[in-house]
Amino acid sequence: MIMALENKLGITSSAQLALTEEKISKQKALELFEKNILNSLQPGSFRALSEIHRILFEDIYEFAGKLRSVNISKGNFRFASAVYLKEAVENVEKMPQTCFDEIIEKYVEMNIAHPFREGNGRSGRIWLDHIFKCELGMVIDWSKVDKTDYLLAMERSPVRDTELKALLCSALNDSINDRELYMKGIDASYSYEGYNEYKTSEI
Ligand SMILES: Nc1ncnc2c1ncn2[C@@H]1O[C@H](COP(=O)(O)OP(=O)(O)OP(=O)(O)O)[C@@H](O)[C@H]1O
Ligand SMILES: [Mg+2]
Repeated sequence: MIMALENKLGITSSAQLALTEEKISKQKALELFEKNILNSLQPGSFRALSEIHRILFEDIYEFAGKLRSVNISKGNFRFASAVYLKEAVENVEKMPQTCFDEIIEKYVEMNIAHPFREGNGRSGRIWLDHIFKCELGMVIDWSKVDKTDYLLAMERSPVRDTELKALLCSALNDSINDRELYMKGIDASYSYEGYNEYKTSEI
C-alpha cells in the first residue's frame, strides 16, 4: 500500500485518500459556484487562488490555502523552490491578464510556482476560469480538453506554451454560468494510486 499524505481524515491509503479527496473537493467546488464566492475575489490574485484552495481542501488538509514548505517535483520538473515561493507568487500575480495569451502565460507561471503541497491542478483550473470569465467573458469547456493532451501540454509549458495555448483556445466557450462546464475542470484527472505523487525534498 502506498502511504497517503498526512490528512485530517486519518486516511492512510493513498488510493482511499484520492477517492475521498476527489469527492469532497467536488462538493466544495460546487458550493463555491452556487454561493458565488468567486465574485468577491480579485481575478488573477494569489489571494483568489489561496481562497479557492482553502475552500476545496480545508476539511482534508492542514495546509489548505497555505504556501508549501517543502520542495516538490513531478516527472523531471522541479517546481519553484519553497524558499522563494512567496516572492514567486507575488511576481506571478503582477503579470498582465488582458488577453488570452497573457492569461495563459500567467497560468503557466503559477503552475511553475505550484504554491500548494497538493491540489494545485484543481484549484489552478478554477482560478484560470475565473480570470477568463472576468477578463474575456469566456470559460474553458473542459469536456473538450483531452486529459492526456492537457497533461502533456502542461508538462511542456515551462519550455514552450504553444501547445497549451492551442489546446485551451479551441475549448473556449461563452457559457460563463454553466455549472457542468465549470465542474468538468475540477475532475481530479491523474491522481490514481502511485502515478501522480510528488517527489519531495526538505529545504
Ligand atoms: N511534469 C509537470 N510539469 C509541469 N506541470 C505539471 C507536471 N505534471 C503535472 N503538472 C501540472 O500539475 C497539475 C497537478 O497538480 P496537483 O497534483 O497538485 O493537483 P491536483 O488538483 O491534485 O491534480 P489534477 O490536476 O490531476 O486534478 C496538473 O494538472 C498539471 O497542470
Ligand atoms: Mg494531485
